[in-house]
Order: sequence, then C-alpha cells, then structure tokens
Amino acid sequence: MDKIIKLHDKSFSPFISKEKIENEISRVARQINKDYQGKKPLLVGILNGSILFFSDLLKQLDIECEVAFLRVSSYKGTETTGNVKKVLGLDKDINNTDVIIVEDIVDTGITLENIFKDLSSNNPKSLKVATLLFKPKAYTKNYPIDYVGFEVGNEFLVGYGLDYDEIGRNLDEIYIIKENTMHNIILFGPPGAGKGTQSELIQAKYNLTHLSTGDMFRFHMKNDTALGKKAKEYMEAGNLVPDELVIKMIENKLDESNNSKGYIFDGFPRTTDQAIALDELLSKKGSQINSMIALEVEEDELVKRLLLRGQESQRKDDQDESIIRNRMVVYNKETAPLKDFYSNQDKFIGVNGLGTIEEINERINEAIDA
Ligand code: IMP
Ligand code: MG
Repeated sequence: MDKIIKLHDKSFSPFISKEKIENEISRVARQINKDYQGKKPLLVGILNGSILFFSDLLKQLDIECEVAFLRVSSYKGTETTGNVKKVLGLDKDINNTDVIIVEDIVDTGITLENIFKDLSSNNPKSLKVATLLFKPKAYTKNYPIDYVGFEVGNEFLVGYGLDYDEIGRNLDEIYIIKENTMHNIILFGPPGAGKGTQSELIQAKYNLTHLSTGDMFRFHMKNDTALGKKAKEYMEAGNLVPDELVIKMIENKLDESNNSKGYIFDGFPRTTDQAIALDELLSKKGSQINSMIALEVEEDELVKRLLLRGQESQRKDDQDESIIRNRMVVYNKETAPLKDFYSNQDKFIGVNGLGTIEEINERINEAIDA
C-alpha cells in the first residue's frame, strides 16, 4: 500500500508511519520526564514546523512545565541569505529557567544556531534541544542535540508539521521525496582548470543547466547593471565578490529555471558560507548536491593556460600574472577548504585535469556515472 502523494510538482512516498512517530515521541517524552524530575522547564516550540511534534510531546509530559513559541524564517522573499530572521519573539522571561527548544527538524543547524544564540543571551539556567528529526550528514554546527526522535538522511521530508513550500504540514505521517530526479554537480577547481570548457560538455550530455557565476557577473559588467558595477572592482583585482551578492544571484537563477533536470555549478560555491547557503537553497527545492568533481591541475600549468586565454579573450584578469597569482592565493585560502566540506558528505571526487579536453571529459563522465 505504497500510497504516493503529490504536493506541488513533486511526488512523495510514505517514510515514517504514525505508529513509529508515536513510539519515538513516547521515548523522548519518557527521557524528558526523567531528566527534568522536580524541575519546571519551559518548552519553546519553533513555529511553524514543530506544531504537531510539540503538542504530541507535551501531552506525554507528566512534569510541571510551561510553553512558549518562537517563529523564525530563513531565506524568505528577497532577504539576504545566511540570515535567520526572527518573526515572532518570546513573550516570556527565560532568565534562570530550564529551557527546551522544540524543533521539527534540524538540517544544517543554521536556524538552531540562531535560536541558540538568541536564547542563551537571556541567561537561561539550562538550554537543551529536542527535535523530531535530525539530519546528521547535513549538520554543520556543534551544538549538541539532546533529544532526537529520528536520525534521517539528507532526503527531503514532508508531513507531520514539515512543509514543502507551505503545504503538507497536516499529513499525519512523514513522507519522503520520491523522484529526486534533479542531479546537481559542482565542477570545482582553481582558475584555469577547465571548468567552463568541461561544463559545456557535461551540460550537453546530461541535459543539465550550466550556472557559471563568473559568466553571470561578466554579463552584468558588460551591460553595466547595478550588480555588474558592484562586482567589477572585486573581479578585476582577482578577489572574490562578496558572498551575499553571489548567493542572491544564484537564488534568483534557481527560481527562474524551475524545471531543470539539475545544475552544474561552475565557480560556485567558492566559500564555505556559499556552500552552506547552496545546501539550504537546494533543500528548499527538495534537492541536494550529488557530487563535487574537482579538476586537479598544478599551479604553473594553470598560470600558463590563463595567460594564453588572456591573449585570446578580453578578460583583464587573465592578462596580468600578478592578478592571476592573487586568484590562486584566494583560491587556496577561501575555496580549497570546500574539499573538506564535501568530503565530509562523501561527495568529493578528484579528477586529473591534465590531458586533452576529450580525455578529461571522459574522466568526468566516468565520475558522474559512478
Ligand atoms: P536548518 O538547515 O537546520 O537551518 O533548517 C532550515 C529549515 O529547513 C528547517 O527548519 C525546515 O523548515 C527546513 N527543512 C530542512 N529539511 C527539511 C525537510 O526535509 N523537509 C521540510 N523542511 C525541511
Ligand atoms: Mg522549521
């Protein structure tokens, strides 16, 4: 009885049954009853997602406790990314109170970190976290999660309070996204590694949308748009355009191309903050990065290639060896650490970037198909 449901453009299949949810909530409630014997904790529910978990948990607590709610929203409308906005604040003084944050799901932990910082600045006696669902592979923070109903993978879930674009919260069990047909690849590597050339080939073969932040900014610069004006000084000096400009631009692009079979990100993300923001943007679409393919080429070879490209194109940043070297420095400092970020998620694949275009392309195709 695999009852598939459809929400907006996506299909979902049953994942965690009502009974299992009940069982795990009972287990968490028993633990809280035990840990908070003789105390009077304040349960702070994070709206909107935690509503069902919160009430089912509350019903099973036999200690004296109070309740309050916080509402936060992240990446909404035209707000800059990386910011979790407090929409509704606490109306209770939590000074010297034992506080338990109650969440529906902890994914990257960005939301939780904001709430944690906010609440701990008000001097609670203790601060713990209870969440129905936890995605350990996506979690980028170090705050301990004290009570967990279920540890789950990175797949997008819906139901029992969780929404997909605001619908599905009322489902009484948890569903998992069915056809995650989107395939998203990051083509990674230092300037001159061949990302642009290879992206074009991958795009054609796998029918993916190529998103090159460098090309987008160059387009804006050429047309002298407001964004182009802002980006110009950074790019021409071989420095990184600030994260918020890049992320905003990617967000707009992802919104524009809604029916894509997936993306090749070329030149993005370039910093860990951008990588975290990208995970969040894709998670909102019920998707994720599948792999990061890194083209590995030595620096002297890169400089040679870029100077050659500078002779053939009008790119100012390719015509001056000191600017090229600066881009390498920036790459090694800001961008290279992303290898670890994606290695930790088991998504990193290194590919030898030396050889003919065809040879390199073949290696990349093998990596993708694997
Ligand atoms: P964070 O990444 O831990 O900050 O989580 C951000 C928010 O993304 C969560 O509070 C949820 O609203 C949403 N979210 C993350 N994963 C899922 C999911 O699988 N289904 C529905 N919403 C999710
Ligand atoms: Mg939430």
